[in-house]
Amino acid sequence: MKGIEVKSLFSEYDNIEELPESDRLLINRAKESVKNAYAPYSHFYVGAAVLLENGEIVLGNNQENASYPLGLCAERVAIFAAASNNPGIKITAIAVTAHSKDFNINKPVAPCGACRQAISEYEHLHKNAIRIIMMGESGKVLVSESIKHFLPLQFTADDLNSK
Ligand code: THU
Repeated sequence: MKGIEVKSLFSEYDNIEELPESDRLLINRAKESVKNAYAPYSHFYVGAAVLLENGEIVLGNNQENASYPLGLCAERVAIFAAASNNPGIKITAIAVTAHSKDFNINKPVAPCGACRQAISEYEHLHKNAIRIIMMGESGKVLVSESIKHFLPLQFTADDLNSK
């Protein structure tokens, strides 16, 4: 059986230099945010940068906890910080990247399932697609125009009322 073709849903760039300038800027801000990640347990340091329609950029990174399940991913830290401080302002993009002390991350880091759902919430709320830019420490970059490509069948606020 043929596998599911995923790549066609994403634009692929060979390296960061090839990215459109606004994407490059955002991924560089995400790389900056990696430095503040608190990941003493996994040693996997993730940074995210959220771009708002007014041009503001909000950073976030993973925050772990001695009670392991309490830790939160960089994407949700960033998107919740952005939404909580800028209610009503559309989110237009999120960039995500990671660093590990143990190995070189040379391929893009994709948001986990829980973060996809959180990103989907704001896409749906603002009726505005969120661009997702993914990169490792080095190597190629993947860009998606919408979280819909990660979650084709979504559970949203619409499912919670009968109208
Ligand atoms: N992590 C993120 O911050 N974002 C992702 O997309 C994947 C995983 C974090 C969670 C945890 O702190 C560490 O990376 C290892 O899973």
